[in-house]
Amino acid sequence: MKGLNDLKNKKYIFTSKSINRIYNEKFSNPYVLEDGEIIKNFDNVKRIYSYLIENNVNRKDTIYGVGGGTVTDLIGFIGTTFKRGIKFEFYPTTLLAQVDAAIGGKNAIDYEGIKNIIGTFNIPDNVIIDPLTVISQKDENYREGIIEAFKVAIIDGNISLFLDNIEKLKKRNLGTIIDIIKYSVRVKLNIVSKDPFDDNLRRLLNLGHTLGHAFESFTGTSHGLSVGWGIKKEIELFGKNIDLKSKKLIIEFLENIIPEEILNKDVDMDKLKKYIVQDKKINSNNKIDIPIIEKIGKVDLKSFDSKDVVSLFT
Ligand SMILES: NC(=O)c1ccc[n+]([C@@H]2O[C@H](COP(=O)([O-])OP(=O)(O)OC[C@H]3O[C@@H](n4cnc5c(N)ncnc54)[C@H](O)[C@@H]3O)[C@@H](O)[C@H]2O)c1
Repeated sequence: MKGLNDLKNKKYIFTSKSINRIYNEKFSNPYVLEDGEIIKNFDNVKRIYSYLIENNVNRKDTIYGVGGGTVTDLIGFIGTTFKRGIKFEFYPTTLLAQVDAAIGGKNAIDYEGIKNIIGTFNIPDNVIIDPLTVISQKDENYREGIIEAFKVAIIDGNISLFLDNIEKLKKRNLGTIIDIIKYSVRVKLNIVSKDPFDDNLRRLLNLGHTLGHAFESFTGTSHGLSVGWGIKKEIELFGKNIDLKSKKLIIEFLENIIPEEILNKDVDMDKLKKYIVQDKKINSNNKIDIPIIEKIGKVDLKSFDSKDVVSLFT
């Protein structure tokens, strides 16, 4: 079975501080970054390019990104651009990275305060998922992963895998975690293989992101939990056609996973509107495509005038 142990004798391992602290004995040659979103910047790209040049890394070598989605996004970007592309592999260590960020070939850094604005599409040579790593994650970050995986299940249909196992999932039962990782990865890869460059089908994965992004920017709540908040709010605003039972099942699950203080956060709707109209998914005709749940297992992209979305809040 493959896992972090495979890294024992590898070179060019890029990881972040907390992962290095927890799993250090597995890495022989780590390059250690800070933790979190701040690492996805040009300074780190330049530093790592220089490090690769100093070490004569060539296209036969492989670099390894070991960490959450921030590490895999950064190392994927470097792997696809250095010497026009070298080999790179991911060892995602958060549930969110295992079910989402490390899967599907999007690599990116942030620039001028805009998330993921500079990036590439290119799949890694290998993604090794060691589900045991999830055990040491902070609870809030672990729950972000559950929500991103649940989002995929709403699109595909098998939400009972989540609903029937919610307590085990919360207690990080390894068997349940493995089941949801396998399920979400299979569904995401199926979607991505049909639309690798985000032209149509893949955009369904933005479910909950329109209001979720606005909420994230406005309140500073973490991304995954904001997406959960966004799915709930979007169902309340756009979900008049969803049958009551499905609506109830989805909302109850989200309310069970998202901490109460986030669900009950006081949101100034006028201020939130400002963030919605700044959404980078709004096109030059002021239209925005929003994935709308018709029923569990059927989500469609609907085009809205951004003004109409904003007016829903009044
Ligand atoms: N490329 C894509 O398709 C895609 C999709 C979704 C999200 N993303 C990106 O993923 C990033 C978010 O990923 P994330 O939630 O994994 O955040 P993260 O990488 O910031 O990790 C969260 C925190 O947990 C720590 N950590 C990681 N693994 C741990 C472990 N096993 N035990 C204890 N601590 C651990 C990290 O050091 C960090 O402090 C964002 O930058 C987002 O843009 C990319």
